[in-house]
Amino acid sequence: MTPQFNTRIEQQLAERKQAGLLRQTQAIEQGHQPAMLVGGQVFTNFSSNDYLGLASSDELKLTYQQAISQFGVGSGASPLVTGYSAQHQSLSDALCEWLGYERALFFSSGFAANQAALLALLQSDDLLIQDKLNHASLMEAGLLSPAQMKRYRHNDMQHFQRQIDAEKATLAVSESVFSMDGDIAPIDQFLAICKQNQWCSMVDDAHGIGVLGKDGSGCKSLSPETPDLLVVTFGKAFGLNGAAILCRQSMAEYLTQFARHYVYSTAFSASHAVALLKAVEMIQTQGWRREKLSELGDGFAHYLSGFDEFVQTSTPIKPWIVGSSQQTLNVCQQLKQQQIWTTAIRTPTVPKNSARLRITLSASHSLEQVRHLCRALTHAMEVC
Ligand SMILES: Cc1ncc(COP(=O)(O)O)c(C=O)c1O
Repeated sequence: MTPQFNTRIEQQLAERKQAGLLRQTQAIEQGHQPAMLVGGQVFTNFSSNDYLGLASSDELKLTYQQAISQFGVGSGASPLVTGYSAQHQSLSDALCEWLGYERALFFSSGFAANQAALLALLQSDDLLIQDKLNHASLMEAGLLSPAQMKRYRHNDMQHFQRQIDAEKATLAVSESVFSMDGDIAPIDQFLAICKQNQWCSMVDDAHGIGVLGKDGSGCKSLSPETPDLLVVTFGKAFGLNGAAILCRQSMAEYLTQFARHYVYSTAFSASHAVALLKAVEMIQTQGWRREKLSELGDGFAHYLSGFDEFVQTSTPIKPWIVGSSQQTLNVCQQLKQQQIWTTAIRTPTVPKNSARLRITLSASHSLEQVRHLCRALTHAMEVC
């Protein structure tokens, strides 16, 4: 390796370490929600995005196992070669009927879907308008694209509207539920402004789908209007992984030609599509999972709402905003001593001085586990 790379790597790692911002991967030895084994110790996991508890559901596991016996484990090719199956088609039909679209295009991840949409659509004279707190996959695609990018203050629809440039073809993007704050975007207003200005609208529903609305239809439950592009990801409430872009026929045709993450990437397997279809059915019909989440959220608020660090949300994402990165790590460490697993989220993932624990609830938690978390957090705040 050239010495410049070595020097750069060492310097940047040292800087991160000194700032207390070094990220580290931790191998989970066994288990999912709610219990998991790390370093020979059992922890209750309050960090996962498996909001509905589907990732470890016996019903879903059985469907996946049976599908693997029938269809195998890999798709073997990209969708335009031989990677697209009748099972993908059934999943697409179910998603389109449920969410009100003509077509669904599948991707290996939400990150890829977001990048694919922005990079395929935007040209140099275009304008991209994004909420300041949109996910890194959207921000990065905006920076990589040749279009001009403007960012509006978080959820501020007046500021959003002021970004207008009548000369430019405009794409506007918001999340439905913000991943690090757990708050909900004013999607109805967002879509009305897009419509009024004839902007192309896109909503990333990664944390809304499965969680919001009576049948878990996410963004759809927030407005009678539908965004031109809806991104749903399967790694959160679906308990699996992958993503889809939902859109009208002509947009899907365009993305099929020009979205490079679609054309040049191996499709997820037919078995995976079968499992995802089962997840759709479970999300739609097992409303008790959302009711349980709401009950757990009430319990969490009941114990902790008196703290400055507490933030009221109506989603399973419960940010606990400590401020300093080191202090957040200390609280996190203290919770580990009580067998509770949370993740410290620090800059650059969140703005400076707003380091936090991103606590997430799941329908697979018990109320007693949430009570234990609240007691442990109260204690951690006293000693840290
Ligand atoms: C809002 C949002 N969009 C997209 C993604 C990326 O999805 P995936 O994990 O499927 O790549 C995430 C992941 O955390 C997210 O929070």
